[in-house]
Amino acid sequence: MTMADRQFRILGIAGSLRRTSYNRGLLRAAREVAPSGVVISEFDLATIPLFNEDVEAQGDPPPVQALKEQVRAADAIMFATPEYNYSIPGVLKNAIDWSSRPPQDAPLRHKPIALMGASPSGFGTVRSQLALRQVFVFTKSFVMLEPEVHVSTAGDKFDAEGTLTDARTRQNVRALVLALVEWTRLVRAEQLVAWPTDGPSQHALAPTAVSVTHGA
Ligand SMILES: Cc1cc2nc3c(=O)[nH]c(=O)nc-3n(C[C@H](O)[C@H](O)[C@H](O)COP(=O)(O)O)c2cc1C
Repeated sequence: MTMADRQFRILGIAGSLRRTSYNRGLLRAAREVAPSGVVISEFDLATIPLFNEDVEAQGDPPPVQALKEQVRAADAIMFATPEYNYSIPGVLKNAIDWSSRPPQDAPLRHKPIALMGASPSGFGTVRSQLALRQVFVFTKSFVMLEPEVHVSTAGDKFDAEGTLTDARTRQNVRALVLALVEWTRLVRAEQLVAWPTDGPSQHALAPTAVSVTHGA
């Protein structure tokens, strides 16, 4: 079955547990503006326990199993991150840490990813999105470079329930969804070129083993 034969599934993960969160509002907006054939669901991080290797050694707790299964099953992931103290909120980093295990076969490994974020400040989560990109180096996730969606002065663009009301930002969110679908097609094709026989997991700890050249 090819991607064209079925729906394209995006898992949305917001780095905020707040009911009227701007970032959860961004994910709802993405769901609303997504074209037909693209389905976006949200995973609520509220039930994810703090990462503990002792707990992991006993087996992933059920909420973590659900998270990892949904990340694995998704064609792509869309993160909507707030900025906390110039970086990523702990709840989001915690969920990523669970989803980065085991390193050679992690749900996040080689997963196509798009980032967006909203903040009441003038910087629109620029710093937290950069911090998030750094995390995805170690997980070897395929984070899309652009478009970048930094929603600043969020108080003017969302209503009191955290619903996105700004038309231009909705257009930007739609552009991000469309780009993520294309990006996923691109990186999947590259994987077929780069790993024709033994699959990507064989190269887990050998980053130089994979070399994909674009253009001449
Ligand atoms: C602990 C904490 C740290 C914060 N640090 C920043 C920051 O570094 N930069 C920023 O733009 N906003 C910062 N904020 C404000 C958040 O952007 C704001 O609370 C935002 O609404 C959170 O996203 P949400 O609406 O999705 O929950 C911080 C908020 C909290 C609670």
